Amino acid sequence: MAVTTIQWVKDHIKLIDQTRLPHDIVYIDCHDLKTLWDAIRRLSVRGAPALGVAAGFGVMLGVKDFPGASQDKFARQVRQVCDYIGSSRPTAVNLFNALDRMKAVLERNPGASVAQWKRLLKEEAFLIYEEDRQVCRSMGRWGASLIHDGEKVMTICNAGALATVDYGTALGVFYAAQEQGKIFSVYACETRPLLQGARLTAWELMKARIDITLICDSMAATVMRDKRIAAVFTGADRIAANGDAANKIGTYSLAVLARHHKIPFYVVAPRSTFDLSLQSGAQIPIEERDASEVRGFNGQVAAPRTVKVFNPAFDVTGNRLITVIITEHGIIKPPFTRNISRVFGKKPKSCRAYP
Ligand code: MRU
Repeated sequence: MAVTTIQWVKDHIKLIDQTRLPHDIVYIDCHDLKTLWDAIRRLSVRGAPALGVAAGFGVMLGVKDFPGASQDKFARQVRQVCDYIGSSRPTAVNLFNALDRMKAVLERNPGASVAQWKRLLKEEAFLIYEEDRQVCRSMGRWGASLIHDGEKVMTICNAGALATVDYGTALGVFYAAQEQGKIFSVYACETRPLLQGARLTAWELMKARIDITLICDSMAATVMRDKRIAAVFTGADRIAANGDAANKIGTYSLAVLARHHKIPFYVVAPRSTFDLSLQSGAQIPIEERDASEVRGFNGQVAAPRTVKVFNPAFDVTGNRLITVIITEHGIIKPPFTRNISRVFGKKPKSCRAYP
């Protein structure tokens, strides 16, 4: 994919404004934290891994002009910057994992000067960026083994280049399969309310010359049955220690439908999307967004202006509905609690299944 979602350019963050896609290709230059925070909040930059990269660069942005040499004051500023960035969106754990990595730089180097801390923070932020590029390609290669010539697959939201630095998780699997010469087609759910599937996935896959058909979310069951969908691939925003996975609202519905139609349901996500401190998906914080997003789109109001609205941005798919989780370390099969801890090296706690 010839699109870079987010970059550090000289002294600031440059990101493609995803609220303007697919019709306008416009970039936002974030010279201050408020501009970045707003960009995250209104989904100009979005997708769990991209939010992790934004958080790393955001810390750089928040401390680059720190004056003086006081370590205490610098450490306090880093904590404040992390708290501020962390208040932007609650669900994607990549954002918080990246902030933890940035804070850990100071803890690992207690004797460093402020100038050295700034340099080390920059190195860590670029490492998060570079790791994303490599990890996505690795997940893509693992996942491509699950796609076969002639198959039709389904996806939701945008788990592509635009949700990462430049390749994607679920869509990275499609790019890797394409690089291996496989011929397949993709059905993309439009993903109401903010239409990441219609606006972003359709644009990305068309640009990559992958055969894509856009459908309304409510068509998924019919398409699974009548078009003989071979597999569903989705990304994730946070995966608990037992494999329960939060992703864009509508993912759980797809998983239920996939089970009914005996279609494998694959979650594609890097280590940075796992939250092993949570025993199950019941503990994942789910962002609720403004009612206006459901009442209409882009300023056009479709519903009565004062109708009551429920607008959770994500849902949780219980581990029992997930066939495998594709990570950069390989494909994790059930039982997830045991196998996730084996792959990532943490002792499993007993947990209750997500309903
Ligand atoms: O609200 P968004 O657009 O940030 O939601 C994004 C998703 O749900 C993606 O599927 C998820 O972050 C995985 S992206 C590789």
